[in-house]
Amino acid sequence: VRYGWLFIVAGSVGLSLIARTAAQEKGCTPHTSLDVVVTPKVPDDECHPLAVLEHIAAYSWQTFIALNWPAASESRGEPDGDDPKQIENRTSPRVWETWKSVQETFIADGLQPEPWGKPETHTVCSNSNQLEPSPTKVLADLNQSGLSGQAIGPLIAQNRTYVRYEVRMHRKGFEKIVSDKLFLRRERNVELPDGSINVKAAWREVRPGENTDRYYRTEALALDPHSAHCEKRSFVLIGMHIVHKTPQRRQWIWSTFEHVDNLAVGPDAPPGTTPSLNNPNEEQILGQHPDPVDGSNRLDPYPKAVQVVISKRAEPGPDEEAQNAKWQKSQELENTIWKFYKLIRTQWPAKPRDDGLGTPLPMADVANSTMETYQQDHTCMRCHFNSGTDFSWFIHLRANPIPPEVRSNARIFYNTMSKFSKKNPKPLGKP
Ligand code: HEC
Repeated sequence: VRYGWLFIVAGSVGLSLIARTAAQEKGCTPHTSLDVVVTPKVPDDECHPLAVLEHIAAYSWQTFIALNWPAASESRGEPDGDDPKQIENRTSPRVWETWKSVQETFIADGLQPEPWGKPETHTVCSNSNQLEPSPTKVLADLNQSGLSGQAIGPLIAQNRTYVRYEVRMHRKGFEKIVSDKLFLRRERNVELPDGSINVKAAWREVRPGENTDRYYRTEALALDPHSAHCEKRSFVLIGMHIVHKTPQRRQWIWSTFEHVDNLAVGPDAPPGTTPSLNNPNEEQILGQHPDPVDGSNRLDPYPKAVQVVISKRAEPGPDEEAQNAKWQKSQELENTIWKFYKLIRTQWPAKPRDDGLGTPLPMADVANSTMETYQQDHTCMRCHFNSGTDFSWFIHLRANPIPPEVRSNARIFYNTMSKFSKKNPKPLGKP
C-alpha cells in the first residue's frame, strides 16, 4: 500500500507515453494551442496526450469561432477572407449556415440531392411561390429526441415561443452521402470520412421589442408542421452542437455551446435583460416536456413556457470555465457577439484511434440546456452510438424510406411534405 502511488505514477506515465507514441506515429499535428486563436480554420485534430481537457476546451473554442466566421457570399461553405476583424461582422450568414441542410440532403422520395454549390431555396414550404427569395433558411424541427431518436416534445422559451432546431453538414460528409447514396435506406455499414463535421443549432424566436444586441440574430422561415406553410420571423442563436470526425478521434469530438443568458443573466447585461429559458421567480425545478409537436396538433400561438433548470453535474467544469473566461475576455472577441457564448462541455473518445463506442469522456451528464433539456444525465456519444450510422442520427432517421416505427422529427416533417408538396405525393415508409 505504501508504494501504491508509485505504481499509479509509473502506470500513468507509461500510459501517456503509449498514447503519445500512438499519436505521433499516426503523424498527428501538434495539439491545439491554448492561446486565443481567431481564424476561419477549424483545427484538424486534437492529439495532446496529457492535460487533454484544457487543450480539448481550446480546440472547441477555436472550432466554434472558425465555423461562426462570416461566409463568402459567392460559394457555399467558404469563409469571407481571414482578417481577424471579420469576426466582428454580425450580419452575414456564418460559414456553417451555408452548409447543406438535412432538408436539402434527404429529399422525401429519395431523389438525388442537388450538388453542393447549388444555392439553397425554400421549396419545401407549401407557400414557397408567395415568399420572397430570401431568407431560405427553413426551421422545421421542433421536438427534442429520446435515446432511440424518437420525438419526445418541444422546448418553449420564457417569451412563450417554440425553440426550433436546425441540422447542417460539412461538404465532406455531404459528398460521401451523395456518392454512396446514403440518402437511401439500405443495410450497410455507414462510415463518414475524416474531416466530416455536423452541426445542430437551437434558435429562439424574437418577440417584437426585444433587445437582441447580445445575440447572433437572423431571419428565417418558421415551418408549420400542420400546413407546411412558412412564415418569416427573427431568431437568435441560443445553442450550438459541433461534432467533428478526426483521424485520431474515430467517435468524433463533441463540443457544445450556449448563450450566456439562457438560464441566468450573464455578466454586464443591460438592465431589463431576462434569461431565455428560466424564470428566476418560479420554483427551480425542471418543467415537464409538452407532448411532441406533429402534423396533427396545431402549434399554439402562445404556448406555456417550460422552466429549464440544469443539474449541477451538467454544468461546465473548471477547464471549460477557464477557457470561457479567456475567450470571452479576450481583445479579439471584445467587439463581437461571440463573447456572449460559452462552452458547456466537450465529450471525446479519450483513446486515440479506438473503435466501437470508444472511451467516452466524460462518461455521464453531457447536455445542452437548449437541446437535451429533458435528457441531462445521458451523453452525446452514448445516444448517437444508438443510431448505428457512424454516430450520425440524421442518416438513420432521414434516409428514405423513413422507418414508420420511429416517430422522429424527420418522419413528422416528411409526412407534412408528402401531404402538401405536389412533387412528393408518395406516402412515406414505402419505397
Ligand atoms: C437522447 C439522445 C441524444 C443526445 C443525448 C444527444 N443527441 Fe444529438 N441528436 C439526437 C438526434 C435524435 C438527432 C437527430 C435530429 C434530427 O435529425 O431530427 C441529433 C442530432 C445531432 C446533430 C446533427 C447530426 C446528427 O447526428 O443528426 C449533432 C451535431 C448533435 N446531435 C450533437 C449532439 C451533442 C454535441 C450532444 C451532447 C452534448 C448530443 N447531440 C446529445 C439525439 C441525441
